[in-house]
Amino acid sequence: MRMIDLIEKKQHGEPLSKDEINWMIKEYTDGTIPDYQMSAMAMAIYFNEMNDQERSALTMAMVESGDQIDLSAIEGVKVDKHSTGGVGDTTTLILAPLVASVGVPVAKMSGRGLGHTGGTIDKLEAIPGFHVELSQDDFADLVNENKVAVVGQSGNLTPADKKLYALRDVTGTVESIPLIASSIMSKKIASGADAIVLDVKTGAGAFMKNVDQARKLAETMVTIGKSVGRNTMAVISDMSQPLGNAIGNGLEVKEAIDTLKGEGPEDLTELCLVLGSQMAYLGGAAESLDEARSLLEENLNNGKALEVFKLFVKSQGGDESVADNPDKVLPQAANTKEVIAKETGVVSEITADQIGIAAMMLGAGRETKESEIDLSAGLYLHKKVGDKVQEGESIATLYSNKAISDDIVEKVRTHVLLAETATIPTLIYDVIQ
Ligand code: URA
Ligand code: CA
Repeated sequence: MRMIDLIEKKQHGEPLSKDEINWMIKEYTDGTIPDYQMSAMAMAIYFNEMNDQERSALTMAMVESGDQIDLSAIEGVKVDKHSTGGVGDTTTLILAPLVASVGVPVAKMSGRGLGHTGGTIDKLEAIPGFHVELSQDDFADLVNENKVAVVGQSGNLTPADKKLYALRDVTGTVESIPLIASSIMSKKIASGADAIVLDVKTGAGAFMKNVDQARKLAETMVTIGKSVGRNTMAVISDMSQPLGNAIGNGLEVKEAIDTLKGEGPEDLTELCLVLGSQMAYLGGAAESLDEARSLLEENLNNGKALEVFKLFVKSQGGDESVADNPDKVLPQAANTKEVIAKETGVVSEITADQIGIAAMMLGAGRETKESEIDLSAGLYLHKKVGDKVQEGESIATLYSNKAISDDIVEKVRTHVLLAETATIPTLIYDVIQ
């Protein structure tokens, strides 16, 4: 086979065969196919798309390009959740113990945050003592015992995706549905998921800025999942404003604890119930999504979800008293500053990505992979879209161990827009089964 022939084939809009895709991904991973040829292919795919067979073949070729995690030592259907990234998205911290509390095993492999999007591992490490370095055996034992454990990413998973994603980033080919869908699905499948729940975000803080694009991506991923034997469901949710009120690692742990007590922000709680229902249903805990939701609601209200959270934290070395005394246990910032409203009005927009960047500037996120993060840093929004604000009232509190500059205060003020009226954004645009 010659790469030039495959590039021309795709350039003419013809589908590639499974053998051709397997060959191309293998040779590209090995370094035999150079970046310039793969860039041309990515651009041809960008313009000419791929059909269902090609998308599934590309996904599985990337899965097979590296290690695959074997979770067979864990009993039950292993359901994984993936979010396409957002600001202040605390859902994993809540869903892991919540879904485990209805008996579905949650064997979660998570990463660290980069840029204005946070990572679950960083958030968990805000709990003193919590560690995510577990051997494969310890990880499986913990999930079998407690139904939940979170481990840091290890092994050489989907090296083809790593290379291709980096290449797409510099060749204008990131925003291609078949390439995004196969990239995300290959990582989930390689990490051992039997079933997958996808939270596809849309809005300013998300990758897919509009709902139609998000829906198309979600449908594509659900089709890929089913075609390779992984039952998959998706939710399209809003990321025009940050989720919940807290953005920042320690602050989000506290918000997650509140939510597990049934006292969390409305939007965050609702999204967790919708995603959790899909996870519990796919994991076999309920016969329908409605039944799954009732089970989850019950465990938020009767304290069971919080009990599982404590057990989970303790089993991974963390101080479980964080659940009862979050302010005493979590790192506290040396400096705080209020963002005061200069006029009266109704919040009409909170630009998620810009607020995420402000949180990063306070120290909550990494500008580069090497940056150190401040686990106490971030911001707490006292207002969400639709809330009334009086002149002189605080819109948000900023937290940092660094001195907080007026520039950051101004940045937050600028991106919490006030108007005479506001339209409250839809939280869940669609559910794809
Ligand atoms: N996230 C991924 O993992 N891959 C993409 O291609 C885009 C977003
Ligand atoms: Ca939040």
